[in-house]
Amino acid sequence: MKKIISFALAMIMILAAVSALASCNAKSKVKVYTEYELTAEKYAFAVAKNNTELKEAANELLADLKANGELDKIINSFFDGTAEFTYTNTVSAVPTGADRENYLVVATNAYFPPFEYYQGNKLSGVDMKIASLLAEKLDKTLYIYDMNFDAVILSVQKGQADIGMAGMTVNEERLKSVDFTSEYYESAQVLVVREDDKVFADCKSADDIVAKLEKQEKSFKVGTQNGTTGFMFSAGNEDFGYDGFKNLTTSGYDTGALAILDLANKKVDAVILDKQPAIMIADSTNK
Ligand code: ARG
Repeated sequence: MKKIISFALAMIMILAAVSALASCNAKSKVKVYTEYELTAEKYAFAVAKNNTELKEAANELLADLKANGELDKIINSFFDGTAEFTYTNTVSAVPTGADRENYLVVATNAYFPPFEYYQGNKLSGVDMKIASLLAEKLDKTLYIYDMNFDAVILSVQKGQADIGMAGMTVNEERLKSVDFTSEYYESAQVLVVREDDKVFADCKSADDIVAKLEKQEKSFKVGTQNGTTGFMFSAGNEDFGYDGFKNLTTSGYDTGALAILDLANKKVDAVILDKQPAIMIADSTNK
């Protein structure tokens, strides 16, 4: 009898330990406050200051795509997942020497659906599709140069890449380093939290969210992608005109997806990211 009881007790203890472990490892579902836009931003492509030729070609292409309704069609098809476009580089590294001229080298950070992302090992997304049309227009071969987002502007400035196509927001600070083409998309930063979040539950507007963020302490962590307007909105950056939230802790990640994964795993309390990427990354994290 004693043996049976102690065996039962041991089993109960093991079960309790396993379930405790499971619940603390369990990935939570996340949700996006899509209605409450924390910023108003516009995307454009970045070119080197002296590269008016490329800037004009890109502007011409964008104007055509806007005029014939193609731009909306392209954007919608990547938003609703009906797009079929993918691209694979034809060479394994950025071409050099005399051959370089035959290529349009596009700097991006391909972890930003639906603007740029990997589908298997192929590149896809709104920007990648427009990049292919631009290369076609210039009669060049497209080379997509995938790098950290915070390297995109520098690589364009240095001429390592010809153009930055990375869901990039135009702002005064960036305009000091590079030129931008005409704008092709309007976006905003939004907040992502866990589905069971209580902190922001009664927010009814973007202002409410900002007020809540202002009340948090250093132990409250906001995840963002390094070098992005989301990072600057959260951490603050005088040059970019963001006061930021000095009261809380802003964590920078290489990609938005890594930030949202840490949110699901309770390593950060919220994520601030561009709206459509936030929606799509949250969806795939929740699967
Ligand atoms: N729009 C934001 C910015 O310009 C985020 C862009 C991130 N893009 C990317 N391809 N990861 O800072």
